Amino acid sequence: MSHPAEPLGLDLDARYAAACELAQAAAERGMTYYRSRNELTVMHKGGDMQDVVSIADKALEDFIRAELLTRFPEDGFVGEEGGHANLEARCVWVIDPIDGTRCFVNGLHNWCVSIGLMVDGKPYLGAIADPNHQELFRGRIGHGAFVNDTPLQVHPAQHVREGVVGAGTTHRPGKENFLPFVQGLLDEGGMFFRNGSGALMTAYVAAGRLIGYYETHLKSWDCLAGVVLLAETGGRINDFFRNDGLLEGNPFLAACPGVYEQLAELIGPSLDA
Ligand code: IPD
Ligand code: CA
Ligand code: CA
Repeated sequence: MSHPAEPLGLDLDARYAAACELAQAAAERGMTYYRSRNELTVMHKGGDMQDVVSIADKALEDFIRAELLTRFPEDGFVGEEGGHANLEARCVWVIDPIDGTRCFVNGLHNWCVSIGLMVDGKPYLGAIADPNHQELFRGRIGHGAFVNDTPLQVHPAQHVREGVVGAGTTHRPGKENFLPFVQGLLDEGGMFFRNGSGALMTAYVAAGRLIGYYETHLKSWDCLAGVVLLAETGGRINDFFRNDGLLEGNPFLAACPGVYEQLAELIGPSLDA
């Protein structure tokens, strides 16, 4: 049965199935690279020694794009490795082939494949595959959000002292907001967590494992699939897509409703500046 708010004239069942299937298939391919990661040549992006990439990232994105293009040739793309194309399309796929590349190349089990889809300019469905923990987070507007087949639910916390908050940063502008936020969180009796994958931390907010997640500057491919999970579980996010958020990114806050305002206050005006 279709949801009342369902966009019309598109085969969204096929696209949801494809997102789930391809996230898992790419994650399995990723595991092959991961098991022999010592043979990978690791390159640094834009002179930032912390921003790494290997042949695995490009190969997985190429695989996902080729599959989606064959099935849905009219669709557009935004991908971390391959750039963007056909953004005027009603359906635009937003892909991070490996989110958590620093973990990936260092043998830390926190990485995933994230595939999201915008329909008519709005986040509509997403799949995040974490092969090390055999978890597939998936969601579609009006159809719920799940990890494997278990429905997700955000945390009931009303104060930051009641749970754990994801906190991330990079060397991009905005990092100056990181330490003041963590200090404020600690002062309020809260605690921080970082696993090196923005997509997984966003999914963990939807799953109630984290009560919130703040990143000083995130890209859309890191969080779009997770944003759908949040929409389906009653989570809140800031005005992330404002200005050119889809291509350029913005500060990102996701939280359960009971602590969203408290976290936004701790971050201050830089959140939606
Ligand atoms: C990164 C991760 C990290 C976050 C960075 C992202 P990548 O993505 O999500 O947790 O702090 O902002 O760039 O480079 O591993 O795809
Ligand atoms: Ca990423
Ligand atoms: Ca990536």
